[in-house]
Amino acid sequence: MIPRSLPGMLVLGALFAAAAPAQSAPDGKQISAQGANGAPACITCHGARGEGNPAAGFPQLAGMGGRYLEEQLNAMANGSRVSPVMAATAKALDPAQRQAVAQYYAALPSTLDTDQLAATAMHPSKPADTGAWLATRGAWDKNVPACNQCHGPGGIGVGENFPALAGQPAAYIAGQLRAWRQGQRPPGPLGLMPAVATRLSESEIDAVSAYYAGLPTAAAQLAAQANAPAGAKQ
Ligand code: HEC
Ligand code: HEC
Repeated sequence: MIPRSLPGMLVLGALFAAAAPAQSAPDGKQISAQGANGAPACITCHGARGEGNPAAGFPQLAGMGGRYLEEQLNAMANGSRVSPVMAATAKALDPAQRQAVAQYYAALPSTLDTDQLAATAMHPSKPADTGAWLATRGAWDKNVPACNQCHGPGGIGVGENFPALAGQPAAYIAGQLRAWRQGQRPPGPLGLMPAVATRLSESEIDAVSAYYAGLPTAAAQLAAQANAPAGAKQ
């Protein structure tokens, strides 16, 4: 029925205005798939599911904290986090677009098998296995807690502030630890990571980065062994 009265027309007008607002909120999914303001589509590097690309060194984004991702985009845009690859992309997006695309990736399910990964935390490691030892035990002689204590068992990430490490490219993890040592990344919550990174040696950085990069594969192997029928163990 077509309203003839003036109030009826006003109601209809308001409905149309609400359906097609002049300034629509940015669409994070669309930015990820198509880019925006000249910034390239995120999926070309970070993958269609936000899973990243270990071979190319592109980190996974799916399931990370939304505030964390937004803060990283802001830091790469203002240069306090030095990233030659991401700077122009982060700068091209306006703050509302950065927030929208961060929220989009935060809401995507992580591609990690968190049960398998968490089980690796119970697997005994030896001090000589530097990466595994740092991840599960830390280096208390120099006040470095186990990485898993903050990043979760198996490096699966915890809540908004502690990003997942499992499956991130080794070069990426090592690059971030060195960036903190060189003041090329903001300190983050309570300055926790600069404190950790400055206490690690170069070879410890490489070892723990390789450990987390390889952890999804190692976790799948451990799970397969545990599930093997009795007598089939090697
Ligand atoms: C050309 C490839 C490429 C494209 C396109 C790209 N990224 Fe990145 N992204 C990277 C690389 C490489 C890094 C690691 C940065 C570093 O080493 O400093 C990164 C890092 C990030 C991080 C930090 C992740 C973390 O764990 O701290 C976020 C967030 C991010 N990108 C979001 C985006 C978004 C959103 C888009 C699309 C608008 C996008 N990226 C497009 C390559 C790319
Ligand atoms: C006391 C808590 C704590 C401990 C222990 C800790 N981290 Fe972190 N880590 C954090 C926090 C908080 C962040 C997020 C920093 C930010 O927001 O910039 C972080 C971020 C990171 C990142 C960046 C991830 C990304 O997506 O860019 C890496 C890499 C990392 N930590 C590696 C390690 C390693 C390796 C260890 C063990 C040697 C470790 N962390 C131990 C708290 C911790």
